[in-house]
Amino acid sequence: MAQPIKRIAVNTGGGDAPGLNAVIRAIVHAATRRGWEVFGIRDGYNGLFLPERYPNGDGVIPLTRARVRGITHLGGTIIGTTNRGNPFHYPMPQLDGTIKELDRSGEIIAGFEKHGFDALIAIGGDGSLTMANELAKRGNIRLVGVPKTIDNDLEGTVATFGFDSAVSFATEAIDRLHSTAESHHRVMVVEVMGRTAGWIALNAGVAGTADVVLIPEIPYDMRLVADKINAREAAGRNFSIIVVAEGAVPKGGTTSVVEKEAGKAERFGGLGEKIAAQIQSLTQKETRCVVLGHLLRGGTPTAFDRLLSLRFGAAAVRALEEGQSGVVVVLDPPAVNYIPIDQVADRVRHVPVDCDTILTARDLGISFGD
Ligand code: F6P
Repeated sequence: MAQPIKRIAVNTGGGDAPGLNAVIRAIVHAATRRGWEVFGIRDGYNGLFLPERYPNGDGVIPLTRARVRGITHLGGTIIGTTNRGNPFHYPMPQLDGTIKELDRSGEIIAGFEKHGFDALIAIGGDGSLTMANELAKRGNIRLVGVPKTIDNDLEGTVATFGFDSAVSFATEAIDRLHSTAESHHRVMVVEVMGRTAGWIALNAGVAGTADVVLIPEIPYDMRLVADKINAREAAGRNFSIIVVAEGAVPKGGTTSVVEKEAGKAERFGGLGEKIAAQIQSLTQKETRCVVLGHLLRGGTPTAFDRLLSLRFGAAAVRALEEGQSGVVVVLDPPAVNYIPIDQVADRVRHVPVDCDTILTARDLGISFGD
């Protein structure tokens, strides 16, 4: 029989998302209620395998109820995160100037044992959950995952926390851009995050009544985008709003990636500006681009995200108490359930092109450039 749980570790990995602190607070409350101690590993796994980076070499923070007081509504994560330096392929500069990748997972497992942790709750997206799953298998660590990402692109869960906050912010930004677009008779291009999935662009685009929405799942043709703008012009609507997912792709083209290096997540960027330039040249209309970028990850989580985060955090603790391991907490409305982490790790949930939000958008006259 497994050892009874006394000390658990929590970490947050990948990009921050509104709601992370609420998850941490729920974990701490639910765990301390059961008499367990909770510790936060700083900056993903850095606190365990790079302890020299922290004061007194301590990369692990005791998380007491006092430490998590008043953090539910705060963006970010009080224990820090990273989406750089995958410990399985950690980039180590060599004397000859080259970079060698090292597997440092053994140091993480040793650190886990040194601290006497009985289990890990890993909060992260597909990359972080994949890593946690691999560590748990190698180190025989009891693990429960909590899915996080503003991109909403995780399999197995109807929603991830952070997504609703990102969509709400993007919708407000689109609302505000309508004023200037209409007053100046311009085209405004709004680029939003989302990696290879178009959930943020689609939801904010429809909610914000954009005229064109470009998402990775539907390759676009710029001439059709220009046709839509010109048709609006002919109908006396001399402004347009285009929402572009950072990972959208032109028909027969490739994604706009600005960074692709070993040990690092691929970084998207630049598509909004490219599209704005193409629209200006095809329609002769003054066009501006706004990149919402990391603004989508900041600020206070919406009530929906806070509640989801608190439910996920408490459910992760209940899962450990029930003896579950190798599972991830998911939203399966109206319930929160657990599914094997293998069903989530290393997978991406794309927008189904026949989903009702896309059908609704088409019925509303929104163009996808297809
Ligand atoms: O996965 C979350 C996310 O915000 C993506 O939407 C975006 O492509 C990426 O992270 C940006 O990461 P970084 O913080 O490295 O710029």
